[in-house]
Amino acid sequence: MSGRTPIYSGRMPTVPPEPASLSQHEPHRARQVAESFGSDAERYDRARPRYPEALVNRIVAASPGPNVLDVGCGTGIAARQFEAAGCRVLGVEPDARMADFARRSGVEVEVATFEAWDAAGREFDAVIAGQAWHWVDPDAGAAKAAQVLRPRGRLAAFWHAFQLPPDVAEAFAAVYHRVVPDSPFDLRGIRSALDVYLRGITKVADGLREAGGFSEPEQWRFDWEQSYTRDELLDLLPTQGTLTRPPPDKLAEVLEGVGAAIDALGGSFTMPYATVAVTAARTGAA
Ligand SMILES: C[S@@+](CC[C@H](N)C(=O)[O-])C[C@H]1O[C@@H](n2cnc3c(N)ncnc32)[C@H](O)[C@@H]1O
Repeated sequence: MSGRTPIYSGRMPTVPPEPASLSQHEPHRARQVAESFGSDAERYDRARPRYPEALVNRIVAASPGPNVLDVGCGTGIAARQFEAAGCRVLGVEPDARMADFARRSGVEVEVATFEAWDAAGREFDAVIAGQAWHWVDPDAGAAKAAQVLRPRGRLAAFWHAFQLPPDVAEAFAAVYHRVVPDSPFDLRGIRSALDVYLRGITKVADGLREAGGFSEPEQWRFDWEQSYTRDELLDLLPTQGTLTRPPPDKLAEVLEGVGAAIDALGGSFTMPYATVAVTAARTGAA
């Protein structure tokens, strides 16, 4: 998946990603959104894309052992991928509905926010967070990761940035703001999801430098793409933070508007994704 020509022009309008699209710049404070993903855990697990195998393998190879802590493990999407790569994974997840799903899929989970979770002296070779680190207090999160990682243990936080076709993104923004005018998200005017995520991970890297105890953070990027039919995209969109909370009638209206835009494209399209990671190793004697 890695190594393809970059596909982001930086000029296409898109679905603003969750972290930066909240009107406030501290998404971890928006707890109603942060813990809303379990409103439909089955759909979340079915529709959300998996992580590039190359990313999983690179994190595993860069970690000193197989014990992984998955922060905000949700339904266990990343956890199961790391288990398939030979790791032992413990999830920490504050939303009991997500945690229940993950447990049913075979992942061991403790229900808590990462900040409040009691590590009880346990140490890990890697702390991972798939699309979850922005919901964690950046200072407390960096300090907690430093506390639970053994020397040379690796912190890796990663996100998918996806780019809807311009007409679909514009239709989404227009209908969304008409139907959900009081949303904390602003979907208008963002030109590139990837740029927004890259700004976000630069902030995470700054936080790790400030926290201390980590090597110089690196950024990794994996480009890939996935085709979507109208039904597949309309299954995915309600799992986004923008749409986990509106009531069913409003959600249906938004999806109808987006669906019409996909129909106008012929009913399907190929979506470019970039999965971006910020990662650093715990310093200290081995
Ligand atoms: C977008 S989902 C990602 C789930 C999963 N990691 C994945 O890759 O599909 C974000 C998850 O972070 C969890 N979360 C929110 N705040 C958190 C916190 N302070 N500590 C740990 N997890 C948190 C949410 O409950 C949710 O399950």
